[in-house]
Order: sequence, then structure tokens, then C-alpha cells
Amino acid sequence: MLAAYAGRNDGAYCRDLGALGLGMVTIGGLSVDDVAKSQTKKMIERGRSEFFVHNHEDYIREQVAIARESEALVAVNIRSATVGGYLDAAAVIAEAGGIVEIDAHCRQDEMTSIGAGQALLYDFSKLQEILWQIKNELGVTTVLKFRGNIVPELAIANAVEGCCDVLHVDAMLKGKDAPDFSVFREIPDDLFLIGNNSVRDTASAQAILEYCDAFSFARIADDHDAVREIVSGV
Ligand SMILES: Cc1cc2nc3c(=O)[nH]c(=O)nc-3n(C[C@H](O)[C@H](O)[C@H](O)COP(=O)(O)O)c2cc1C
Repeated sequence: MLAAYAGRNDGAYCRDLGALGLGMVTIGGLSVDDVAKSQTKKMIERGRSEFFVHNHEDYIREQVAIARESEALVAVNIRSATVGGYLDAAAVIAEAGGIVEIDAHCRQDEMTSIGAGQALLYDFSKLQEILWQIKNELGVTTVLKFRGNIVPELAIANAVEGCCDVLHVDAMLKGKDAPDFSVFREIPDDLFLIGNNSVRDTASAQAILEYCDAFSFARIADDHDAVREIVSGV
């Protein structure tokens, strides 16, 4: 799976990666309510590469359609200050034939200060409200993306039981250069688990598959030769 990468993963980027044989690609992260969008603007102003779109609903429809030109499933990684923002965007993603990925990963102050990104890991009731509303009203497949070693993974898995289909876990250990795949062991087997961090070749992908149902990568994706090698290697 191609993991989210703000400012880079648009529909065309995802389509081109999907065409290399990936099972799933991720558009975004995208900010999907006014508060999150104005925070994105601030992030761009201080030099970060992000997607800023006025009409995110049209953008999602267009970009998902482009990405779906490949065989891969298409997820859209979203950030919002409000529960309504997630729900409205999820409806558009579902209608476009996509999968909804809630970004509980971003740790930039602009996002965490509005209760988005990693702040969701400290507010299980909001996280549950988002996921239950999406499940009950739309029935679309949902993925929760977060970093391991922040909040106990088992507590997160228990909190989203019944309302989330897939956990997508970044195994990076804070303060270290290396990932810590032991975080994957904390997650019950009945949840579909995508492991992420530092995949760069077949061996590193296979190391994640020891614990997980699937693996993802982000930074290596510009290197199509490496991606081809990984896809054929696994
Ligand atoms: C520049 C950059 C932007 C990213 N943007 C997002 C994002 O918008 N949403 C998200 O969930 N993760 C985002 N990530 C995290 C990646 O999806 C991935 O978890 C991380 O890079 C580790 O995987 P890798 O070692 O394969 O790159 C971003 C990472 C980078 C480096």
C-alpha cells in the first residue's frame, strides 16, 4: 500500500503507483473542514508541503476518479476539526468508490491544536463518534492511521472495535531512527492490520508481514524501481 504523503499523493501520483501493482494507494492527507483548511494554510506558509484546496469535495471526486484508473483500491486520508467534517467528506469518498482513512498520525501543532491528527489518540470519545457515525450512516470501509508507541495500541484497538475495519500503524519509535515492530504484537489478530515504517526493499516489507496483513510505504515511493522490486519480491 502507498501511505499518505501530504502535498505529493494526488490522484495522478496514486494512479502511477497503483499501476506498479500495489493493492491500495492513499490520496492526501487532505483537510476537510474550514478550521483544518486554515491550519493547513499556516503550515504551507511556514514551508511545509501540503494540499490546500478550496472545494475539497470536488477535489476528492476528481482525484479518486483519476487514482481509480489503476487497479488499486483508493483511500483518502482526511483531517478535520469537527466530526461533521469527517462525516461529510466520508460521504463524498464513499460515493466516489474510495476508502476513508482517518489521520490520527499528523503531529504538527496546527493539527493537534484543533483536535485533529495525533490528538485523536487522546480523545477516544471523539474518535469513536467519528468512526461510529461513518459506519452507521455510510457503511464505507474505514482505516485508522496512527503512530505506535504513543498511546497503548491495545487500548486504541479496543476503543475502535466494531466501528473501524483496518488499523494502519506506523512503527517508528520516537527519538530513534529505527522502527519497533513489536508494537504490532499488541494488536488483536481479528483486526486487519497494515504495518508501516522504513520499508525500502523486499526484506523490510517481509519483516512487517511477519506481524501484519499488509505493509505500506511513503518516502520510498518516488523510486519506482525500488517499488517494482518490492512488489515482485513479496
Ligand atoms: C512529508 C510527509 C508527509 C506525510 N503526510 C502524511 C499525511 O498527510 N497523513 C498521514 O497519515 N501520514 C503522513 N505521512 C506519514 C507517512 O504516511 C508514513 O507513515 C511515514 O512516512 C513512515 O513511512 P515510510 O518510512 O515508508 O516513509 C507523511 C510523511 C512524510 C514524510
